[in-house]
Amino acid sequence: MVTAVYPGSFDPVTNGHLDIISRSAKRFDHVIVAVLTNSSKQSLFSVEERKQLLQEVTAEFSNVVVDSFDNLLVDYMVSQQASIIIRGLRAVSDFEYELQMASTNRTLNDEIETFFMMTNPIYSFLSSSIVKEIARYHASVSELVPAPVEQALRLKFKP
Ligand code: PNS
Repeated sequence: MVTAVYPGSFDPVTNGHLDIISRSAKRFDHVIVAVLTNSSKQSLFSVEERKQLLQEVTAEFSNVVVDSFDNLLVDYMVSQQASIIIRGLRAVSDFEYELQMASTNRTLNDEIETFFMMTNPIYSFLSSSIVKEIARYHASVSELVPAPVEQALRLKFKP
């Protein structure tokens, strides 16, 4: 059985993330969407809120679970008996950061492989930061995020 981990900040989950999750669910036996808890990034949603939203929007995938981790990704992978890290690539601009992370993870544990998926071109511009920027100014993000996330953003940025 192959377990893959899709790690990230997911602050909040977007349609771009969801596209990667649904495609991964078709290719791997078991997919863990893992939210990093101790990120240096300032987050809008708490880890619990991010997990809750992820759980809601991935409920239809029976082989997907949502979890969080606060240690090195490779150590979390070992604890879950997972061998594949999934990351989405949107554009060339993602490449350098992703190469650095994949190379670091391989140096730390060469039993673990990073698999990249090209993001669906319709989401190639999309990021959680862009979504938050739009929602902050009370414009619609309905094309960019699942409905529960849109609702949660509306509450966060209530005038
Ligand atoms: O969605 P993000 O913020 O691009 O995800 C980054 C993430 C969570 C995958 C990365 O920061 C991570 O794996 N952090 C855990 C700490 C770690 O293992 N660092 C070494 C690899 S760079």
